Amino acid sequence: MAFTQDWFSNSIPAWETSLKSFVGQPSIQVLEIGSFEGRATCWLLDNVLTGHESKIHCVDPWVGPIYERFNESVRAHRDRVVMHRGKSEDMLPAIPGPFDVVYIDGLHLGFNVLQDATMTWNKLKIGGVMIFDDYLWEHQSLDRTLVPKDAIDGFLTVIHGRYELLHLSYQVIIRKNDKGAHFDKQYFDFCQSITNDLAPIF
Ligand SMILES: C[S@@+](CC[C@H](N)C(=O)[O-])C[C@H]1O[C@@H](n2cnc3c(N)ncnc32)[C@H](O)[C@@H]1O
Repeated sequence: MAFTQDWFSNSIPAWETSLKSFVGQPSIQVLEIGSFEGRATCWLLDNVLTGHESKIHCVDPWVGPIYERFNESVRAHRDRVVMHRGKSEDMLPAIPGPFDVVYIDGLHLGFNVLQDATMTWNKLKIGGVMIFDDYLWEHQSLDRTLVPKDAIDGFLTVIHGRYELLHLSYQVIIRKNDKGAHFDKQYFDFCQSITNDLAPIF
């Protein structure tokens, strides 16, 4: 398969380091949001998803000829690729997981990046890895809503303490830890009191 774009090869060194514990393991499950022609998909299939029963779920609308190109790219690995054709916001609720790796590289508007992260965080296993592409990409208009960075920063802020940072450069790579959501008692009691106050209204 001749790919028409290469938005992936620069990421290989960081992926080799961050994903090495999954290489060749059985039943590794990956979710890729935004697969395009399958360049990252094929690399994962050739280099990480080599163990028995390992699979990649790919979500993409695959508009026009990209659909044929993706199918051609993954032809040799068809039994390990599950395609979900459509927008991530529509497809993700029906994809259960859990996943060892989630790669977020779909629609790059900040809102959509944040939506993809929040819709998949609970499907990521403890010890699983989440990868964000294009963290440092700047849109020529300088409109902050058109780029992933503020969404990624916001997401990392609200999951503070619940991940280990593996890589921070043009991509951001984190590993989910076992800390879970942090509720201190005072805040929990405050939330409860508000709920009790509102109960008669509802
Ligand atoms: C930058 S490309 C992905 C590159 C790919 N990961 C690779 O390694 O070559 C972005 C992809 O996101 C897809 N996309 C656009 N909107 C989307 C959405 N709402 N949900 C999922 N994918 C979307 C596009 O069709 C396109 O294929």
